Amino acid sequence: MLLLLCLNGGFAFAENNQCTGLIDNRCQTCHYKSCICQVLGKKSNWEWKNTVTNMMRHGANLSDAEKETVIDCLSSAPVGAEYICKN
Ligand code: HEC
Repeated sequence: MLLLLCLNGGFAFAENNQCTGLIDNRCQTCHYKSCICQVLGKKSNWEWKNTVTNMMRHGANLSDAEKETVIDCLSSAPVGAEYICKN
């Protein structure tokens, strides 16, 4: 299972590695990544934008540039993306 995810996601989404740190450090202060993993592939770019804005209202600490980066990653991440779904 994990091996398969690596093969599928590892190469094409290598540029999303910059998100790993952001998601690990800024999103997991309140909840685990698994809660983000569950909704991958279910939100449009616009919906992710609303979600992340909502998280910032809760208190997520992201600069404008970091916010854009995270929204890009989340809306392009495949279902089960390793860097979000694997702890
Ligand atoms: C300050 C606390 C906090 C931080 C930091 C935080 N969240 Fe959340 N998150 C919450 C709370 C509270 C909920 C449940 C209530 C809700 O959905 O607003 C939640 C729920 C969620 C959900 C499930 C609900 C939905 O809208 O789909 C997702 C996905 C999510 N967060 C993503 C993120 C991401 C991505 C980040 C990092 C950019 C993040 N969160 C950072 C507090 C936080």
